[in-house]
Amino acid sequence: MSKNSLTRRQFIHIGTGALAATTVGANVLQPHLLSAAAPRPVAPSDTVRFASIGTGIRGCELLKASTQVPGVECVAVCDLYDSRHMAAQEAVGNPNVPATRDYRSILDRKDVDAVIIAAMDHQHSHIFQDACAAGKDVYCEKPMSHTVEEGFAMVEAAHKANRIVQIGSQRVSSILYAKAKEIYDSGKLGQVTAIQAYWDRNSPSGAWVYPIPPDASEKTIDWVAFLGSAPKRPYDPVRFFRWRCFTDYGEGLGGDLFVHLISGIHYISGTNTIAERAQSSGGLFHFKDGREFPDLIETIYDYPNFRVSLRCNLNNDGGEFIAFYGTQGSLIIKDSTLTFKPEDTRPRPEGYSTGGWPRALREQYLKQWHEEHPPTPALASHVDELEESYTVPAGYSDVVDHEANFFNAVRTRKPVTENEMFGNHAAIGCHLANYAYFNKSIAVWDGTTKKIVKG
Ligand SMILES: NC(=O)c1ccc[n+]([C@@H]2O[C@H](COP(=O)([O-])OP(=O)(O)OC[C@H]3O[C@@H](n4cnc5c(N)ncnc54)[C@H](O)[C@@H]3O)[C@@H](O)[C@H]2O)c1
Repeated sequence: MSKNSLTRRQFIHIGTGALAATTVGANVLQPHLLSAAAPRPVAPSDTVRFASIGTGIRGCELLKASTQVPGVECVAVCDLYDSRHMAAQEAVGNPNVPATRDYRSILDRKDVDAVIIAAMDHQHSHIFQDACAAGKDVYCEKPMSHTVEEGFAMVEAAHKANRIVQIGSQRVSSILYAKAKEIYDSGKLGQVTAIQAYWDRNSPSGAWVYPIPPDASEKTIDWVAFLGSAPKRPYDPVRFFRWRCFTDYGEGLGGDLFVHLISGIHYISGTNTIAERAQSSGGLFHFKDGREFPDLIETIYDYPNFRVSLRCNLNNDGGEFIAFYGTQGSLIIKDSTLTFKPEDTRPRPEGYSTGGWPRALREQYLKQWHEEHPPTPALASHVDELEESYTVPAGYSDVVDHEANFFNAVRTRKPVTENEMFGNHAAIGCHLANYAYFNKSIAVWDGTTKKIVKG
């Protein structure tokens, strides 16, 4: 049995549609038909040939995941740091896959249908626009843009060239998030007015203090190409390997983690829009290593129908959490478990304010109330029975599903959910958070000028 296979008991649970409520163990969700866990055969003529531009940490993860996606072939890899050529060849399991520092030579190749862009955030925009102009479909890592202006230029480039685009927040293709969306769309939550999410980590690696490889130098790295349009400065391996800490190349916790939370919230709630305004607080408390971003940030966003409160903290290991609070129930995703908890909204007699009534009036009120309301089941069993809990099968990878969705869209030409518009809206959420933090003011989205302004 493969690591993703379902046990017979799990299959019965799911296959019969009997997703019975349980507070003991979560129901294990069935993988998508498209995913590697349950692949549909792809005809050789439908093989999608792709190249990866940027083969560092994420690029290698994506290349490894691509080996589990049916009907795709990596035909070239590209990175500015030579050791990452070999890392990419190892990740894709092919020591002969051609490797280059020059991404334009990849875009010139006729046998490349699509590219994965997994370069640093400040490099996304120009590679993305060049790839679209060269007629390639694009899987671009999150956050889509480094600035608001870049995001809109990328949307325009994708539309002009009629490209299939997917941005890399893989939770949008997760079976767990699909289940959450199903529950949200069913109306079982009632009116959702508050959404809260956090993602907390507590380690040097979680705070991007990555080791510098011993062979890193100006000889093995194209430093000038790395800087790109960022301000010129002498070679500095800390900036190259820990780029997330610096405003010229990344967006700190906003671009690294908020954008995942925002993408998940937008997907589940069907909110393909930009928050109206944001207020941020936070600070740099622990990782005082020369970085320019805070190690704690909290942001409150105003959306038309609800408020969203996000936190990322690099000084405590709280894990990942998203909660949708509605008038009829709460939907909570904690790491890889999803729970729906109904609210007990059954009618009940008022017991608080009538404490200030004389006994006779109170008793008269209660008598009448009970005459008008037939008895309902006991409180505890009622709520427990309606609680639902779900998780993913062991070994499940939403990264594989996200890639599978992209490559399938390349074949079918049907747009994916996390397309350029979706990715742009989510990325602007992180730009709003950082604007509010650095300017110590409310950040307001001005849809007319497509700019963030002070509130
Ligand atoms: N979806 C996720 O869960 C997830 C996880 C990690 C990273 N990411 C995203 O992936 C991207 C890369 O992050 P990382 O951690 O892999 O960074 P990294 O520093 O490990 O790798 C980035 C690589 O891009 C290369 N590069 C930069 N500009 C290039 C260019 N013009 N041509 C060719 N190569 C170029 C660099 O040489 C570097 O090796 C970022 O946008 C990040 O936000 C997403």
